[in-house]
Amino acid sequence: MTYLAHGLQVALRRVSRRDRSEFLALNKESTDFLSPWMPGAPITTPEAFDAYIERFVGPAHDGFVICRLDTGAIAGRVTINNIVRGTHQAGTVGYNAYAATTGRGFMTEGLRLLVEYAFGELALHRLEANIQPSNTASLNLIKRVGFQREGYSPNFQFIDGAWRDHERWAITAEMA
Ligand SMILES: CC(C)(COP(=O)(O)OP(=O)(O)OC[C@H]1O[C@@H](n2cnc3c(N)ncnc32)[C@H](O)[C@@H]1OP(=O)(O)O)[C@@H](O)C(=O)NCCC(=O)NCCS
Repeated sequence: MTYLAHGLQVALRRVSRRDRSEFLALNKESTDFLSPWMPGAPITTPEAFDAYIERFVGPAHDGFVICRLDTGAIAGRVTINNIVRGTHQAGTVGYNAYAATTGRGFMTEGLRLLVEYAFGELALHRLEANIQPSNTASLNLIKRVGFQREGYSPNFQFIDGAWRDHERWAITAEMA
């Protein structure tokens, strides 16, 4: 499959229908790892995967996977949601690694590639990320990639059974 960009350890490409079995296996293994932080039920059924892929048909959402360069295996995913064009040129990123791939630098490199691709080929100008204050791994990641903290949003999103406060972080093309 065609890579959009690559670094030393990982490459970025669009998620594809052909990723279904690998994607489902990763999510099943990582349900406990993902549930406290990710909105919605983990994607563990073919129907849920197909609905996920369907979101990327229109211009408002774009879905990517971060793949290991040595094996081609999926190490993480990144989605750009709620893309608004016109005078905003902005989107909101959601991302995750998996239990077996976290803590190895794959997401840092992959998210950097995504930011570069978003501000280059996709002609976006601003990316936002909303993160629960207790999600230290995600806060560390987003800081490393160059996002800055903009604010605090109480009861921002319903995750794992409750409305969760989130910090709002963002990066603009000028900062990248
Ligand atoms: C949030 C999340 C994506 C962060 O990913 P991550 O695995 O920490 O990020 P990386 O793959 O870049 O790994 C970086 C960590 O690995 C360490 N590391 C180990 N080997 C490394 C290497 N060869 N190169 C770079 N970093 C390495 C780094 O020191 C860093 O640890 P630190 O943050 O404690 O300093 C991941 O924890 C996750 O998926 N969590 C569950 C879902 C989630 O929270 N999503 C985000 C919702 S807002």
